[in-house]
Amino acid sequence: MQSKIMLDEIQADMQTPTLLHEKDGHAIYWLGITEESVFRCNVYLIVDGDEAILVDPGSRNHFEQVRARVSQIICPEKITGMILCHQDPDVAASMVDWLQLCPASTVFTSPRAQVLLPYFGVKDYAWHDIEDEPVYCFASGRKIRFVTAPFLHSPAAFTTYDESSSFLFSGDIWAALMTSWQLTVSEFSGHCAQMDIFHMDYMASNIAARGFVAKLDALVIDAILPQHGSIIPAQFVSPALEYLRALQCGTDIAYPA
Ligand SMILES: [Fe+2]
Ligand SMILES: [Fe+2]
Repeated sequence: MQSKIMLDEIQADMQTPTLLHEKDGHAIYWLGITEESVFRCNVYLIVDGDEAILVDPGSRNHFEQVRARVSQIICPEKITGMILCHQDPDVAASMVDWLQLCPASTVFTSPRAQVLLPYFGVKDYAWHDIEDEPVYCFASGRKIRFVTAPFLHSPAAFTTYDESSSFLFSGDIWAALMTSWQLTVSEFSGHCAQMDIFHMDYMASNIAARGFVAKLDALVIDAILPQHGSIIPAQFVSPALEYLRALQCGTDIAYPA
């Protein structure tokens, strides 16, 4: 048990996992990746008692780096699951390495992603269908909730809401391409320009964006944790929802008529 971590006050440590939340045996870490590119991928880890779930473990190129970060928290063989918010290689390709290390671990994904994931090279694994079972209950009784986000950008896309922390792991949604990266957003209007670069090209349409935001109405969100760019802390969650409601992207731009 410890007092609440103020996300906007913490700095990323490139050598060790960065603790983002911890309460009563439930912890969330930012693991990296320490990739020096505008596309830098974030990998997160949820630890709950004896369970440990990677959120979007990333590419094969970064497997060793992520495994080393996990080993600073728990034995990497103790990973019990991985959430794959769609099948893009920057999200999911290292599933083959993780399944080799932890063959009993469960893949949490959507049916449309599950069609494609075996093409990374492994097909014999347990998977949790997030559409059939939109809530996963840890042995502790704590829950994570999956919220589908079709066409943002993948038809298979979904987000994960951790009830204990009120964190929303958003995958590519609210991702930003940044030349000067920081762990959390400190100034929102400048950050919108960095989200625009990604969203205008990758997200399908305003209809999809608005429809997804409406699904979040019942959730209290304390932070948004995307797969690229910076974490959006509590004070910018409301403007971030509004950003998505107003977003013109994808087919709105490519097929204006
Ligand atoms: Fe993607
Ligand atoms: Fe991505």
